[in-house]
Amino acid sequence: MQRRSAARLVPLLLLLPLAWGAGPEPPRADGELQVSSRRAGQAARVALHYLNYRQGSPSALRALGQVRKATVKTIPGIGHKYYLQFTTEDYKSSQNVGTCLATVLYLKRKPRPAVNINCTYTKDQKQTREDDYSFYKKLRQQTKPITGNDIPDSYGHIEPALEPAWALAVAGSSYLMWEKSTENLSYFMAQVKNVKQWVSEAEIKSALSG
Ligand SMILES: *[C@@H]1O[C@H](CO)[C@@H](O)[C@H](O)[C@H]1NC(C)=O
Ligand SMILES: *[C@@H]1O[C@H](CO)[C@@H](O)[C@H](O)[C@H]1NC(C)=O
Repeated sequence: MQRRSAARLVPLLLLLPLAWGAGPEPPRADGELQVSSRRAGQAARVALHYLNYRQGSPSALRALGQVRKATVKTIPGIGHKYYLQFTTEDYKSSQNVGTCLATVLYLKRKPRPAVNINCTYTKDQKQTREDDYSFYKKLRQQTKPITGNDIPDSYGHIEPALEPAWALAVAGSSYLMWEKSTENLSYFMAQVKNVKQWVSEAEIKSALSG
């Protein structure tokens, strides 16, 4: 019989939506966008939410570095397609970890943007796999369940012991942040309100019978 994961982290997240579209907007013309424009940065972040979700690795999370190039094209009856080139940073260390080429298509009818993304990655991938695994092992061996509130706290501080729980919450919420984004609405994870580790029933049973 397969053993289920001993540890489940149940984080309650505070995802903040940023809505745009109220107030005057510059005309949505096709062509090159300024790399510092809100539209370019927003589309690049959506592509990264998608990437972080697909990778599913708390040790390999990436944030946006700089947009290098951004173009938008209207596809009549379908939506707006963004062509992007940008650099990425490691979530924790803020070190540059590679460049991405991505397209983000905001469809008129469906909220979920269609993303295609290819990146280079300069961080040691063996190391990120090992970091993920040692976190997983630590979770399983934890005798006292991990609990925490308000990560980061109101001063922006994250207790080192809770850093993995924070990273796991970012990885886990990436799917939602990608799925719920529209051209005028983007999400970022502001805070983990609380996190609690549960020991699954399967694990208790196997411990009792073993
Ligand atoms: C997004 O903003 C544009 C321009 O401000 C507006 O025309 C459009 O209706 C908005 N879309 C949504 C879904 O709010
Ligand atoms: C990513 O790579 C695939 C396979 O080489 C290619 O088909 C796709 O167009 C690339 N995507 C982007 C956004 O460059």
